[in-house]
Amino acid sequence: MEDELEQFRGLSLLLQHRALVGRLDAIESAIAACQSSELSDAEMADRLLPLLRSFAAALPAHFAAESRSSASLLRDCSDPEFARALAELDGQHPRLLAAFEGSVTQLAACASASSGVCHVSFEQAIAELLTAIGEFRSHEAREDALFAD
Ligand SMILES: [Fe+2]
Ligand SMILES: [Fe+2]
Repeated sequence: MEDELEQFRGLSLLLQHRALVGRLDAIESAIAACQSSELSDAEMADRLLPLLRSFAAALPAHFAAESRSSASLLRDCSDPEFARALAELDGQHPRLLAAFEGSVTQLAACASASSGVCHVSFEQAIAELLTAIGEFRSHEAREDALFAD
């Protein structure tokens, strides 16, 4: 995972976005495949965890790179609307990170359930993960739109 993270850090912000959204596509496909399978909740959690862990591990590097870029953009920014939008997006990072880290914790609890039955509700964990994925996608889309102008 360390090599993968190192490689990710070397990408431009735009390419990091593509990589992150691609990982979310893979997570959503895996969720759909699990849901149409006969796997137990614990087996599904076990299958989803590596993908989710690798996604969540890339987030701090991505958000830190964006904060550095925002700080330098804001230094020479004369457009208050752009500055406000950028600050608002940067302000969403802690909540997004916490949501995905929370999903890792919940799925890890499910995966380690020896009975195959999760103590936290697997369905609830997946619903929260899908909400976080939707929020992250719209966050990234707003950033892409901001920089496309
Ligand atoms: Fe961001
Ligand atoms: Fe981003």
